[in-house]
Amino acid sequence: NIVKEMEKMKNKREEKRAQLSEIRTKRAQEIDSSCPNWEFARMIREFRANLDCQPISLSDPIEEHRICVCVRKRPLNKQEINKKECDVITVPSKCVLLVHEPKQKVDLTKYLETQTFRFDFSFDECASNEMVYRFTARPLVQTIFEGGKATCFAYGQTGSGKTHTMGGDFSGRAQNASKGIYAFASQDVFFLRSQPRYRSQDLEVYVTFFEIYNGKVFDLLNKKAKLRVLEDGKQQVQVVGLQEKQVCCAEDVIRMIEMGSACRTSGQTFANASSSRSHACFQIILRQRGKLVGKFSLVDLAGNERGADTSSADRQTRMEGAEINKSLLALKECIRALGQNKSHTPFRESKLTQVLRDSFIGTNSRTCMIAMISPGMSSCEYTLNTLRYADRQTLVAGKAVCILNLSTTAKETAKALRLSLGSVVFEFFLADAVLHGSVQWLQSL
Ligand SMILES: Nc1ncnc2c1ncn2[C@@H]1O[C@H](COP(=O)(O)OP(=O)(O)OP(=O)(O)O)[C@@H](O)[C@H]1O
Ligand SMILES: [Mg+2]
Repeated sequence: NIVKEMEKMKNKREEKRAQLSEIRTKRAQEIDSSCPNWEFARMIREFRANLDCQPISLSDPIEEHRICVCVRKRPLNKQEINKKECDVITVPSKCVLLVHEPKQKVDLTKYLETQTFRFDFSFDECASNEMVYRFTARPLVQTIFEGGKATCFAYGQTGSGKTHTMGGDFSGRAQNASKGIYAFASQDVFFLRSQPRYRSQDLEVYVTFFEIYNGKVFDLLNKKAKLRVLEDGKQQVQVVGLQEKQVCCAEDVIRMIEMGSACRTSGQTFANASSSRSHACFQIILRQRGKLVGKFSLVDLAGNERGADTSSADRQTRMEGAEINKSLLALKECIRALGQNKSHTPFRESKLTQVLRDSFIGTNSRTCMIAMISPGMSSCEYTLNTLRYADRQTLVAGKAVCILNLSTTAKETAKALRLSLGSVVFEFFLADAVLHGSVQWLQSL
């Protein structure tokens, strides 16, 4: 009897499987064949049909890290939808992001190479600014009440959503400053200040807002006055004349954000009609009877670019691009040094890192990097660059340093690792394994 029952169950299972596979094939055929890359679109669709996606939710635990690296995918925009671009990014779970890179064999057969990247958190196109804030900048607010420094960076390609995330939702050209990380963080600062623990401490809240454009610093809260950066005898970096405006409530802060954003340098890039061409830094400063208690720097970095794109633009854009790339590289080096507790941190390489120097040093400093990516197929190369930049930072944070048991039976484990950790991290393991003399075995993979 039991045998019969099992047989029945098996048949049922197989039937169900066949049905599912039929549905999948049907769905895949429904792809609009007018889409220029319909074959890739179909492959991606098939891939997703086999995947059980569980995006991040409000009930997920918030983890505390000294350096936290996250990724956010924005939705396809109107322009991309009109061009019928394929969405090549999948976010299967709260820590993983997949890039389906379109490839072609020599015989012109098309195929997808899916690369996996792992982050502290990954957000899909449905995540709101509020959700992103909850897991990224919010855990850092407490730090500044405890005498520490916190920094949150938004990094990514032009048009990927940095200003949208930090400065606030856009609808058309108008910005809703109350829906960005600057405003959410300020709200929480006021909230925490009113709690019994801190109420009696007479803490004052100030904000500054400045931009770094072509290596020069401009005060966005003071008619874009050009400011000098000086280093005093104690190696303290001072931005001379930067205005700190005292704020008493969230509405005050929103007015400051609007004022500063309006005078930020912007230009046009191929991917963003109102592209910020500068790094913008919004700081929330806590003081007690004038004495500094803590500082939260929220930085909307200028879009990263490849040399190839800058060469076609005019001289001004090229110069901007070179400066932007230089400072982003310097930033990476500083975060790397911070993560490894190195004695030397190369602040002086760029104005950006020089100005943020005091946020990187000290035992009580915490950093969060949000890598923003555009989902379109035409952005794929940029996206991979962004993810590699941020992925190395994950390495820096020491979280990727885990199991690689170099026993010869672990071939499958290594393959799975390559899938789950992404190629960059895997390269790191490879390098490590080479040191340990397992070259031949690894080469056979
Ligand atoms: N998560 C999102 N949801 C909806 N729209 C978004 C999202 N992210 C970005 N956008 C839209 O995409 C456009 C470009 O975004 P944004 O200006 O923030 O890019 P950026 O990364 O700051 O680019 P740049 O480096 O050129 O300044 C904006 O119109 C913005 O409203
Ligand atoms: Mg911007």
